[in-house]
Amino acid sequence: MNPLSTDVNGVARSLDGASPHVSALDWLRDQGLTGAKEGCAEGECGTCAVLVARPGVDTPTEWVALNACLVPAVALAGQEVVTSEGLGTPEHLHPVQREMAVRGGSQCGYCTPGFVCSMAAEYYRAGRVQPALATVPPPDHGPNGFDLHALSGNLCRCTGYRPIRDAAYALGQPPDDDRLAGRCAAEPPPATPFAVSRESGAFVRPSDLAQTLDLLATHPDAVLVAGCTDHGVEVNLRGDRPALTIAIDRLPELRTLEVGPTIIEIGAALSLTEIERRLDGAVPLLDGVVPQFASRLIRNSATIGGNLGTSSPIGDLPPALLALEATVVLASAEGDREVLLAEYFTGYRQTVRRRTEVIRSVRIPLPLAGMTAFHKIAKRRFDDISSVAVGFCLQVDHGVVTRARIGLGGVAATPIRARGTEAVLMGAPWTAETVEAAAAVLVTEGTPLDDHRASADYRSAMLGMSLRKLYAANRMEASA
Ligand SMILES: Cc1cc2nc3c(=O)[nH]c(=O)nc-3n(C[C@H](O)[C@H](O)[C@H](O)COP(=O)(O)OP(=O)(O)OC[C@H]3O[C@@H](n4cnc5c(N)ncnc54)[C@H](O)[C@@H]3O)c2cc1C
Ligand code: FES
Ligand code: FES
Repeated sequence: MNPLSTDVNGVARSLDGASPHVSALDWLRDQGLTGAKEGCAEGECGTCAVLVARPGVDTPTEWVALNACLVPAVALAGQEVVTSEGLGTPEHLHPVQREMAVRGGSQCGYCTPGFVCSMAAEYYRAGRVQPALATVPPPDHGPNGFDLHALSGNLCRCTGYRPIRDAAYALGQPPDDDRLAGRCAAEPPPATPFAVSRESGAFVRPSDLAQTLDLLATHPDAVLVAGCTDHGVEVNLRGDRPALTIAIDRLPELRTLEVGPTIIEIGAALSLTEIERRLDGAVPLLDGVVPQFASRLIRNSATIGGNLGTSSPIGDLPPALLALEATVVLASAEGDREVLLAEYFTGYRQTVRRRTEVIRSVRIPLPLAGMTAFHKIAKRRFDDISSVAVGFCLQVDHGVVTRARIGLGGVAATPIRARGTEAVLMGAPWTAETVEAAAAVLVTEGTPLDDHRASADYRSAMLGMSLRKLYAANRMEASA
């Protein structure tokens, strides 16, 4: 395939002339593929969802649904995309389209192409198996193993969600001759290295980390992009037009995950979905974060490196990673350096990372603490930004707290450790009295602000409640 083309629904389409800042959504619609729509242009509604072939966890390739409004079209060069038009035709509907039609899952139809793409990704997920007879499906899973959270990034304003859920739960397994299911057995195409230059800016996909670091050394103002879930919003809503954009999401050096005897190392370019599935429960605290992080559509693209790279004080991973005492590995042309995450953030959206450095990975030291939790306080249960987030890592041995690490988000200009509270807990008996004393300190940590999400008083109060909630769930540890 021409490196500057994308395979869309089995047909190579040239990207010649596409500006580095044009979204895949706008480009697809310009190609006449108008199924995917724009509802928000900021990753909130899922009307723009399409499927992309990506390296799989259970099979060589997986169909992954993502928000076409956020990813630049040129970032998909050399890859395979399937839109709602590529799933089925009016005469031969794809099973997800048929179920949506017969169960009344579509009224005005604006959201439907996005829903069917998200639904198709879950339809093809290798791990989606029908639970054994007499087994109760996990929460929010259908009798066919369909995980309803696959649709958490899709909004419908007129049908109502029950018929859509009915359609999802009615799906069987793909037949043996299903073309897209068959595709999962083969390797996905590599994301071909290329450079595209237009008047409006340049976009480069280097082949390896060394090439990326050389580029950064000579162009320190270049913008790195991985999943583009923050970058796409900056481009669409804030008119960001970087002179040089460097795509690092497919760099092999940033896509490794190793569970060793003393450390777990997670590549910066792994998406939240990949991390969850590849860790497979090895870090229970992260299992607590992932389902509360945005929607499945966003998690399919959003990377751990991007979450630290954007350095938002209300990012969800930093409070958890602070509690886990994680370190960040920063790579530059001069070599790697490892920085404690607790020393990484220096001010509002400021970090110790130099412009010539790439976040290579995040390291989590082992053994993990026995009592962990992630509490996200937000206006909505799913797909919302946190008002306050708290990550806990405590160890209680024979009723005494022997380890206490607490990470906080949303209460200061940066994510912070609750060091005063940790000091109260350390060495103290794990009792209601200790928890009350520690909660009294926890509510004073940070310098929370009043804003449209929450008042400063509410944020502080939630910190104390969060510790009490942890205690309520783990009272028995005192007698262990
Ligand atoms: C609808 C929506 C909902 C969201 N909900 C949440 C949420 O619930 N919780 C949450 O925490 N976040 C949320 N986000 C924010 C976003 O998804 C995360 O911050 C995500 O982790 C960013 O990762 P990315 O790969 O998409 O980053 P990108 O957008 O590609 O990049 C973000 C920034 O990080 C830099 N960067 C990326 N990778 C690296 C690297 N390896 N080294 C150095 N710099 C790098 C980029 O230069 C850029 O400045 C949401 C975003 C959207 C659009
Ligand atoms: S247009 Fe709303 S998520 Fe893309
Ligand atoms: S069918 Fe109208 S918005 Fe969903």
